[in-house]
Amino acid sequence: MIVLGIETSCDETGVAVYASTHGLLADALFSQVDIHAAYGGVIPELASRDHIRKTLPLVKQVIAKAGIRNVDITGVAYTAGPGLVGALLVGAAIGRSLAMGWDVPAIGVHHMEGHLLAPMLEAEPPSFPFVALLVSGGHTQLVRVSGIGDYQLLGESLDDAAGEAFDKVGKMLGLGYPGGPHVAKLAQSGIEGRFEFPRPMTKRPGLDFSFSGLKTFVRNTIIEHANNNGELDVQTQADIARAFEEAVIDTMVIKCRRALQQTGLKSLIIAGGVSANTRLREVLETAMLKINGRLFYAQPRFCTDNGAMIAYAGCQRLLAGQSASLAIDAFPRWPLESLSAIS
Ligand code: KG4
Ligand code: ZN
Repeated sequence: MIVLGIETSCDETGVAVYASTHGLLADALFSQVDIHAAYGGVIPELASRDHIRKTLPLVKQVIAKAGIRNVDITGVAYTAGPGLVGALLVGAAIGRSLAMGWDVPAIGVHHMEGHLLAPMLEAEPPSFPFVALLVSGGHTQLVRVSGIGDYQLLGESLDDAAGEAFDKVGKMLGLGYPGGPHVAKLAQSGIEGRFEFPRPMTKRPGLDFSFSGLKTFVRNTIIEHANNNGELDVQTQADIARAFEEAVIDTMVIKCRRALQQTGLKSLIIAGGVSANTRLREVLETAMLKINGRLFYAQPRFCTDNGAMIAYAGCQRLLAGQSASLAIDAFPRWPLESLSAIS
């Protein structure tokens, strides 16, 4: 099966072609970061309009790059949710219409299932069952994964998602948008141990997260150390970034260890934008070695939003005989656990 995948749930237009026999044939991405940077966050209407401009040219580009023709495509997958409804509708309308025109089946893919399965695109993919830590701009979830579509939610953030916390702290520190990669870069020059931030919800049992208190702690630390103009010196800025990153990562490591202990599993995958964080990977790698476990993740460009993960996830569901009706559906909210399992 050769599947065209289209991702338009937020501020990235991602398109890819995945072949069940040969793996990923081609992919392309257009990031809208420059469009939204001036506003410090995603403007939904601007996102939808740009997806309209970029999706079809990227589809043409990817098909050419894959060295195939339109008639070779045997299925179309598009992100159907969760995400920004206008942005989702662009990908759903284009994907569904292409499939109708080409007379092939289409499937609406759950964005977080796409992230969760992205490590499957790597040379040494994990095998089921495993625990997944999904950490993106909109979600922070720990999931027991028994197979594709067989998901048991173990814990999630009660307020901000991990990526959202990174982005808000980036904004407080006056860094560029999105904050995550900027905070991570700045943290590298921070002095270890100058600030010690709380590890939220780690002292009580359970696998839920909360990052809003930590965010307030960061804000108070900034106020305390800022000069009369409200500015921080460069070193203090880096030290705060480092302490924040360490606190988030430490919290995630504690919860991952707990989830593995609770489920008795030894394999952990991390997925979603925050899983591109180098320090998170290092610290989790060490933690997994200690328990004789294994850590899996996708290459950085497949951690953040991309078309390859949607093509892959859609291909698995199409191969299992699932497909969408002719309706163009988008689900801004869509619980991961409501998906159907495939055998
Ligand atoms: O998965 P993703 O691309 O989009 C959503 O589905 O939300 O995740 C984007 C999030 C943003 O909050 C971004 O700041 C964060 O992932 N992110 C990072 C890093 N790279 C991206 N956070 C921390 N460290 C990074 N290196
Ligand atoms: Zn995402």
